[in-house]
Amino acid sequence: MSGVNEIRSTFLDYFAKNGHQVVESSPLVPRNDPTLMFTNAGMVQFKNVFTGIEKRPYSRAATSQKCVRAGGKHNDLDNVGYTARHHTFFEMLGNFSFGDYFKENAIEFAWNLITREFELPVEKLLVTVYSEDDEAFSLWKRIAGLSDSKIIRIPTSDNFWQMGDTGPCGPCSEIFYDHGSHIAGGPPGSPDADGDRFIEIWNLVFMQFEQLPGGERVNLPRPSIDTGMGLERISAVLQGTHDNYEIDLMRALTGAVEEMTNIPADGPQKASHRVIADHLRAATFLVADGVLPSNEGRGYVLRRIMRRAMRHAQLLGAQDPLMHRLVSVLVREMGRAYPEIVRAESLVTETLRLEETRFRKTLERGLSILETESQGLGFGAKFSGETAFKLYDTYGFPLDLTEDALRARGVSVDVAAFDTAMERQKAEARASWSGSGEATTDTVWFAVREEVGSTEFLGYETEVAEGAVTALVSQGRQVKEISAGAQGGVVLNQTPFYAESGGQVGDTGQMIGEDGLVVRVLGTQKKLGDVFVHDVEVTAGTLTVGTAVALSVDGDRRRAIRANHSATHLLHEALRRVLGDHVAQKGSLVAPDRLRFDFSHPKPVDEAELAKVEDVANRIVLRNEPVVTRLMAVDDAIESGARALFGEKYGDEVRVVSMGTDPGDGTAYSIELCGGTHVSRTGDIGIISVVAEGAVGSGVRRIEAISGDAARHHLNGESRALRSAAALLKAPLGEVEARVAQLVDERRKLERELGEARRKLAMGGGDAVGEEARTVGSVKLLARQVSGIDLKDLKSLVDEGKKRLGSGVVAIIGVTDEGRAGIVVGVTSDLTGTYDAVALVRRGAEALGGKGGGGRPDMAQAGGPDGGRAAEALAAIESALAG
Ligand code: ALA
Repeated sequence: MSGVNEIRSTFLDYFAKNGHQVVESSPLVPRNDPTLMFTNAGMVQFKNVFTGIEKRPYSRAATSQKCVRAGGKHNDLDNVGYTARHHTFFEMLGNFSFGDYFKENAIEFAWNLITREFELPVEKLLVTVYSEDDEAFSLWKRIAGLSDSKIIRIPTSDNFWQMGDTGPCGPCSEIFYDHGSHIAGGPPGSPDADGDRFIEIWNLVFMQFEQLPGGERVNLPRPSIDTGMGLERISAVLQGTHDNYEIDLMRALTGAVEEMTNIPADGPQKASHRVIADHLRAATFLVADGVLPSNEGRGYVLRRIMRRAMRHAQLLGAQDPLMHRLVSVLVREMGRAYPEIVRAESLVTETLRLEETRFRKTLERGLSILETESQGLGFGAKFSGETAFKLYDTYGFPLDLTEDALRARGVSVDVAAFDTAMERQKAEARASWSGSGEATTDTVWFAVREEVGSTEFLGYETEVAEGAVTALVSQGRQVKEISAGAQGGVVLNQTPFYAESGGQVGDTGQMIGEDGLVVRVLGTQKKLGDVFVHDVEVTAGTLTVGTAVALSVDGDRRRAIRANHSATHLLHEALRRVLGDHVAQKGSLVAPDRLRFDFSHPKPVDEAELAKVEDVANRIVLRNEPVVTRLMAVDDAIESGARALFGEKYGDEVRVVSMGTDPGDGTAYSIELCGGTHVSRTGDIGIISVVAEGAVGSGVRRIEAISGDAARHHLNGESRALRSAAALLKAPLGEVEARVAQLVDERRKLERELGEARRKLAMGGGDAVGEEARTVGSVKLLARQVSGIDLKDLKSLVDEGKKRLGSGVVAIIGVTDEGRAGIVVGVTSDLTGTYDAVALVRRGAEALGGKGGGGRPDMAQAGGPDGGRAAEALAAIESALAG
């Protein structure tokens, strides 16, 4: 039997042959358990299958599961490097039965694999059973033919396996390998069982119970099987060593460290090599699964792991950052089994380089303080907790790093004093915000932030997850519960819901809990930078602090938002390329149904430019290139050409999103600092369509665009409208535009002709004026009532009348179909000294029930509601002339 990779596949193939579905490892960040920091066993992804909540299309499964045991119930961090078998990251091989087979088959499968496939000598093997488990005892006797002395009954919790404080559990039976008398240690259950001679290689858990919160233990629906065999351990056995760090995979890593540092991997600094190898694996797999270094929660565990490794790299004399140079070695060793680390290679490399570069700045100074302050402390002494806190607070030394550094000299840290110093700092922060004069509605969030910490955002990787309710707020106050029908704000320890920021709207969706709890999430917002607040309405049941809820983001909506956000980046870059370098982002809105992008540009973007912008952006969409996210120091990001929003406050580290390839020089087409959610390939955007362009302020333009389905529907709608226009015009599509232009022209001409004809008709046609004009006193009067013509044409009729009379007064009243009247009076210029058109029109208007009237002495107009009295109005004007 040879390398780790073959051992892994032998295991999986063996169980596949025996009717098991080979299932992929689940991510290190559990999606289905908010109480668990990291996946720490193979059964984690099947937790709900054991309890019967979740159904799978198979009842037997086998996996090789990525596990991390650091910062949680199972925490091995402190021992890593100093023992032969502790790891923060390891692989657990396991076979599972969900109510299918039970103890007998589990023992048979295990025994046959290790004795027949792996060919381990029977005399080297012994097993343990839970002391009350007579059934397991006799099965081992019968199936394996082991003598009574090789089946050891263990009464302690060592043989009762539990995933965490709650969840499926049961008695277990472990298989041990005896490395031989040349290694110190006694058999399990003996006083020196902790030695390295007898090593547990496989744990078979007979899953029978579920541990509920509050201590109650209930039976699982059907007895099941969960087993776990550490791949590193079994590989050690099969490769003839008792030391996990001697196996081919770990050797490849420590060998690379040896090559880079020139310090022998087996010499006095062996522990540092091992710490580096182990922590490299943990860091790489955690980053690949979406964890990034931070100061809280999972991110802080990752940071502790990284920094611990970095100190050991420094102990080995590495002058430059070392960790990131090892990533390719690990990818070569493990990338075939775990393609996610191949995909994440550059993200991991850059994250490690960034962390190490930054930490180096304070590492040396911190270490020298540590050195000075611990001088003279002998074995068993305590190092000042105050100083440890200063190293933490000012120099970025996680507590365990300080502990690790003092460990070799037998010095421990005064943890109580460290905690006191930490508490004091928090109290100072509290005092400063309570006096900061914020509105009470905001101070509640300071209290929440202080009490429950920041929210871990899982939404870059998943849209469903479980979260534990850490705080509830209703009407500006913290409350213990929110009941059906009520609304409020919900804070969880972790969430896949994106909180409104960077122009991207917050997610909506649903929370489901026990006892029929159904909660609608109406929106998500961020308070104080990192507390995610879900605005909810409880539909049924009662939402209570401390309970776990299943969270699901409205996926269709999020998909549309993602496409629009990525489309915004492409449009931003396209605008810059088409309009020039002066284009800078001034604001944006990314919603599910549309996007809006404001940018500096001094004049309207014309149709041709817009078409070009659309073209450039859509070309990148069609090339379907990957969208890559990296974490970078803000200065490096900006130096690399990433576009940032001027005036925006960024943290020290930023996410940098790049997409597409520049057709010219092959660099990324668009690079932006962005915390939003994006498609994974540009093709997922579908299509981008700009639907509006306008001004928002001086020198700032706004475009609105749509993408994906919305764009397709919009464009289809437009083309349908065009087709039906073509059908009405009885013209081919290509001629619609010319035909419509022609129709508009013709219509204008016809209107003109029609107006002309009506006017003529209104004036009685021909030269009838002579007959119509009467002489009133000494002046000629042409007075008429017309209908069927537009009131705005009355003036031209009056002009015409004036021309025909040569000298005189023209009064024309037009009556609309609704019975309203308009009146225009004209006085030829020779008579304006005697008659005033304004005075005359007012007389007429009075008779029409109207008021006022205005104009000049030679032409005035008015109106009135009562067109039926047009004759009286004309008579009034006539009598004014006569008077
Ligand atoms: N879940 C069991 C373990 O982790 C198999 O040991």
